[in-house]
Amino acid sequence: MFSKISSLGLFGLNAFPVEVEVDISRGQPRFEIVGLPDIAVKESRERIRSALYTISVQIPPKRITVNLAPADVKKSGTMHDLAILIGLLRSMECISKNLDGKCFIGEVSLGGEVRSVNGVLPMTILAKNLGFSELYVPAQNAAEASAIQGITVYGVHTIGELIDHLENLNPMTPTKPYQQPNINKIDALDFSDVKGQTNAKYALEVVAAGGHNVLMVGPPGSGKSMLAKRLPYILPEMTMQESLETTNIYSISGLLDPKFPIIKNRPFRSPHHTISGVGLVGGGSIPHPGEISLAHNGLLFLDELAEFDRHTLDIMRQPLEDHEVTITRAAGTITYPCSFMLVAAMNPCPCGYFGHEKRRCTCTHSQIQRYRSKISGPLMERFDLQIEVDPVPYDELSSKGKAESSEEIRKRVQEARKIQLERFKGTNITCNAQIPAGKVQEYCVMEEKAETLVKNSFEKLGLSVRSYDRILRVSRTIADLKKSDIIRSNHAAAAIQFCTIGWKYVPPMK
Ligand SMILES: Nc1ncnc2c1ncn2[C@@H]1O[C@H](COP(=O)(O)OP(=O)(O)OP(=O)(O)O)[C@@H](O)[C@H]1O
Ligand SMILES: [Mg+2]
Repeated sequence: MFSKISSLGLFGLNAFPVEVEVDISRGQPRFEIVGLPDIAVKESRERIRSALYTISVQIPPKRITVNLAPADVKKSGTMHDLAILIGLLRSMECISKNLDGKCFIGEVSLGGEVRSVNGVLPMTILAKNLGFSELYVPAQNAAEASAIQGITVYGVHTIGELIDHLENLNPMTPTKPYQQPNINKIDALDFSDVKGQTNAKYALEVVAAGGHNVLMVGPPGSGKSMLAKRLPYILPEMTMQESLETTNIYSISGLLDPKFPIIKNRPFRSPHHTISGVGLVGGGSIPHPGEISLAHNGLLFLDELAEFDRHTLDIMRQPLEDHEVTITRAAGTITYPCSFMLVAAMNPCPCGYFGHEKRRCTCTHSQIQRYRSKISGPLMERFDLQIEVDPVPYDELSSKGKAESSEEIRKRVQEARKIQLERFKGTNITCNAQIPAGKVQEYCVMEEKAETLVKNSFEKLGLSVRSYDRILRVSRTIADLKKSDIIRSNHAAAAIQFCTIGWKYVPPMK
């Protein structure tokens, strides 16, 4: 008998419909899967054979052909197991009920359990758009799928449970629509823990308000890592759209927490400096997302920036500007979004004490040059703000006074973001850092005094056009934090100070 079951496949972030056709006919006994399956799909035969054995069903010694349509698109992974198994049972007439409008995804274990698969969220969105009324997913992925409204989701534990349900012997209850539990904020890191560092904290407030990239330079123990780790807690809340975009990337990477499957907090990724280019921007035979995409709508923190491989850092330059990365491999071309804020920290030299007030630097000139040459001029130019984080003086460190909390800073950040959303209404820009090069002067209107100030610095410091644009964008954010329509000279002065330190560390920067 012939049967047809609906399933879904995945390529990068794109889900696509798959029809599983099963035909059992007389002939030499064999079990074949066609339709460009990869090894994982082909191996499903063994899993299904063993899983059926656990419910006392034996595959008949006939000629069994499974076709995964469309037959010209490569199928990979284990998500088709469940549909193949159901198709087989239907062809064997073990399932008699109508399966129209039902879609199945899941891996089957040798023992008959249904195991979780990656990419359930994008597949659920497609299932809903294709008009399926019921979606059967592994129980572990059910919460993730139930975040999408308009489709009934069933979380399946075992194949026995599913067969009883389909045959109306013991109906399962659909998964309740997902509701985000209240997140416990106790483990949130707070800016009030950081003593002193007023300048650095203000710079990070500007960074959060405008979505800018930032580089922190300072001696060991000055609090750079400490400050960076607190940055996520002053960022504005994610919109529903941002949350779904980021969750999709985590879903296909299999990185979602089954208890909190929808990402509501902006991601904070901090890869180790030994990371490879593929790990950072993505890749592999079927290209998977790298750290820059996992940081989408959040932060990528590169601690000890100068320890990273220079080539690895440089391949990040183009995605940083385009907010997406396209990877081409034999399996096809995939584009992943990567709109992230880059936060980096480094010491001024290998020993860490170059320019320190009290301690002597023990590095030779060439050691310092080699250390700094890891960061190319163009990469340095992509840091909108560059700040020096000096060690905290003793009286500030020992003071009992409580510094401002992250919540208070965040309120100001939210206000500034609101102004920006209003300004960029109808465009695809969401914050000042994203103002494209050609539009900077249109959006960043300065008073005359501010213009003169920027012009003088431009000529005196020999800045590049890109640096000029950066100064204007950062000035715009500082003005937004002060709720000023026009950029005043004090806003521009603060921006110039934040934007021009980098040249000290990467000479010459033009
Ligand atoms: N401003 C500060 N207020 C309170 N504690 C601080 C401050 N700065 C540093 N510390 C303490 O010093 C420790 C080291 O700070 P941190 O790891 O942030 O330094 P760093 O600048 O990243 O150093 P390195 O260059 O070695 O990575 C922190 O865990 C924290 O306990
Ligand atoms: Mg550190």
